[in-house]
Amino acid sequence: MNEIRLARPDVGEPEAEAVLEVLRSGQLTMGAKVEEFERAVASAVGVTHAAAVSSGTAALHLAVLALGIGPGDEVIVPAYTFPATANAVELCGARAVLADVDPETFLVDPGSVAAVLTDRTRAVMAVHLFGRPVDWEALRSVVPDGVALIEDAAGALGASYRGVHCGALGALACFSFHPRKIVTTGEGGAVTTDDPDLDAAVRRLRHHGWAELGSMPTPGFNYRLPDILCAIGIPQIAQLESLLAAREQVARGYELRLGSVVLTPRAAEGDRHGWQAYVVQLDRRDDALRALRAEGIQAQIGTWALHGLDPYRTQGAFPGADRAFERALALPFHTQLTDSDLDRVGEVLTHL
Ligand SMILES: Cc1ncc(COP(=O)(O)O)c(C=O)c1O
Repeated sequence: MNEIRLARPDVGEPEAEAVLEVLRSGQLTMGAKVEEFERAVASAVGVTHAAAVSSGTAALHLAVLALGIGPGDEVIVPAYTFPATANAVELCGARAVLADVDPETFLVDPGSVAAVLTDRTRAVMAVHLFGRPVDWEALRSVVPDGVALIEDAAGALGASYRGVHCGALGALACFSFHPRKIVTTGEGGAVTTDDPDLDAAVRRLRHHGWAELGSMPTPGFNYRLPDILCAIGIPQIAQLESLLAAREQVARGYELRLGSVVLTPRAAEGDRHGWQAYVVQLDRRDDALRALRAEGIQAQIGTWALHGLDPYRTQGAFPGADRAFERALALPFHTQLTDSDLDRVGEVLTHL
């Protein structure tokens, strides 16, 4: 029986052609494809600026630094997220302060955010986990003016909150183009914003700190994304709507088969899910993982409860994150899944 893969990127001939074009041009980095990719990302998100960077993690790191956050500052991070969300804060010398999540939606609980705000809080990481938009109004209402909202939209390209694209809600937003994302460049990321000063800061920091050649206000990194990789992303962004529609179709297929078997994911009424991953919840998650793998079906846990990892162990109890961590199961999710693939997954989970 053929193995059903967890993820499979939507790349083919157009991407291969685009890479060849770059190779033949002799301009492998800091060229026209970077600018074209950045314009495509900005337009898809509905913002004025998008800076391409080497990963979603680099995007988060630069977003925090661009806000001038550093030692003595605190940034609130959901206790259930990919570790990079918190690591980026800690690596700026600031403290990642955990807030609990709603175990049903996986999203940060505004009440828990309010409870850990201090006069050192400089920002809150709003993670649209697995592509489900955060309840922005509810979060915004507990965050004082002067505390920035940074979107971790790593998995939320194409998602929208009440008609506004994820990535256009916060002071800055961070995207990932890792192969498990709807648009991939192999590795890659972007920072989006409507603020020209923040965009300029991100661009300086991704390129050694240069404001212009000979002028370096602060030290920076090499977090650039080369033209070869930007070229891979451009044809996919042009197809974003159809990629999203194809994922919505797979999600509907799962809902039909699993809606009464496990807790299935969905966006809130009026929002659009980005469908980065299809993560269900059930009590016997580890049994399900074993059973799926035994049938040649790749599956994975959702993501991490950060207080279970060494750098974040001392922050107390987060029952919502614990419950999410124990029950979340990522099922195979990509546009090439067939009805019979979905049937096979459905069979295993129904007869657990
Ligand atoms: C919520 C979240 N934030 C950040 C990242 C980091 O992105 P990257 O792998 O491109 O560094 C990921 C990656 O999966 C993620 O899921």
